[in-house]
Amino acid sequence: MRVRVAAIGVGNRTGKYLQYFQSNPDKVELVAVVEPNAVRRENCRKQFSLPEELCFESAQAFFEKGVACDGVIIGSPDRCHYAQALEAIERGMHILLEKPIAQNYEQCREIADAAARKGVKVGVCYVLRFMPLYRKVKELIDAGAIGRVTGVSHQEYVGIDRMLHTYVRGFWNKASASTPSFISKCCHDVDMLLWVTGAQIKSVQSAGSLEWYRPENAPAGSAERCTECPLEEKCSYSAVDMYLRRGVWTNNFPVPAGKSKEEVVEEEVRSGRFGRCAFHCDNDVADRQMVTLTARDGILITIEMNALTRREGRRTVFSGSQGELIATDELIELRDHHGALVSSLDFSKDAATPLHAHADLDIVEDFIQALSGPEHPVAIPIGEALESHRICFLAG
Ligand SMILES: NC(=O)c1ccc[n+]([C@@H]2O[C@H](COP(=O)([O-])OP(=O)(O)OC[C@H]3O[C@@H](n4cnc5c(N)ncnc54)[C@H](O)[C@@H]3O)[C@@H](O)[C@H]2O)c1
Repeated sequence: MRVRVAAIGVGNRTGKYLQYFQSNPDKVELVAVVEPNAVRRENCRKQFSLPEELCFESAQAFFEKGVACDGVIIGSPDRCHYAQALEAIERGMHILLEKPIAQNYEQCREIADAAARKGVKVGVCYVLRFMPLYRKVKELIDAGAIGRVTGVSHQEYVGIDRMLHTYVRGFWNKASASTPSFISKCCHDVDMLLWVTGAQIKSVQSAGSLEWYRPENAPAGSAERCTECPLEEKCSYSAVDMYLRRGVWTNNFPVPAGKSKEEVVEEEVRSGRFGRCAFHCDNDVADRQMVTLTARDGILITIEMNALTRREGRRTVFSGSQGELIATDELIELRDHHGALVSSLDFSKDAATPLHAHADLDIVEDFIQALSGPEHPVAIPIGEALESHRICFLAG
């Protein structure tokens, strides 16, 4: 059976999900697209040979048109999820919804309640649960590999480039326009930790703030734009270095017809938001946060979000009554309490596999299957994703 799906917000995330559509035209058809950015909308129209009248600038125009579809992917900015999800539910469309679900916990609950009332499936894009490494971690812990879990220490290294692109200069730099950084960056980490340990959280403590990327920390003599700054060449946060010399994080700048990618990036660094001095942006989200969760059965979970490091990725230590399990992006190690290495599993090939080790496509596959009949639930229904959102919104 071939299901009909529309895509709302066709940026970085949805672009990845649409790769599944391209490779599986026998299973799913993209029937409409909603994207305010004309370049992206046109790229998507061409890629999927969509008629003009099924490419919409706004979700409202799409919903009003009453396009027949079984489901929608919502990959628009965080602030749009609430209204778009409620509208889709009202019209009986199943949803694959990007995380975070919405901008506050009450909105998340409202979406979940509306979906339950209408009998609509809402799957949340918690990609970590689909990754082979974390599936293995869960399998080992469930099988008692470290005995009873007593504590977890989880470190999330955001990395300086990602921090600058997303949370300092970029579109997640103000909580009111998106969500606090701990929510957007770590809600799927919290979910993964609850899923693996089964911990039922009774209290949440949090400390964190925006400490570094503030005007008072700008070096003396620096300018407000990197292209005009006399200190640029020595600065660790230079946009010129990041986008022009090293050429990283440039894939998501839409390139209009008649311009080259190099021209677009150059223009952005010269006059756009991404060329601003890292100490002179309008950012207000935390650049470091430490959250402690206490579970009813005594398990203590600490989560550190650290954005003042070049390191990127995750490192988790699960402590148990009989040993410990250490998971990094590339490796799982089991050690007993004598310190001996019991086993070591290499995930470096997965870590190098694009699309979160293929998990981004598995999320879509799961959703497409769920659309094929009431007997197929989504793997991560919104009801299950509420608890991680509750915790993250409490942490702030
Ligand atoms: N699951 C993950 O690992 C993960 C990773 C990054 C981001 N996200 C989340 O995914 C969502 C999309 O993030 P992204 O990185 O793809 O961002 P993006 O900016 O690349 O894409 C968002 C797209 O939505 C479009 N848009 C803006 N306003 C819109 C509106 N009113 N209606 C419809 N579309 C609109 C934008 O033009 C853009 O093309 C966000 O909620 C984000 O927090 C999830």
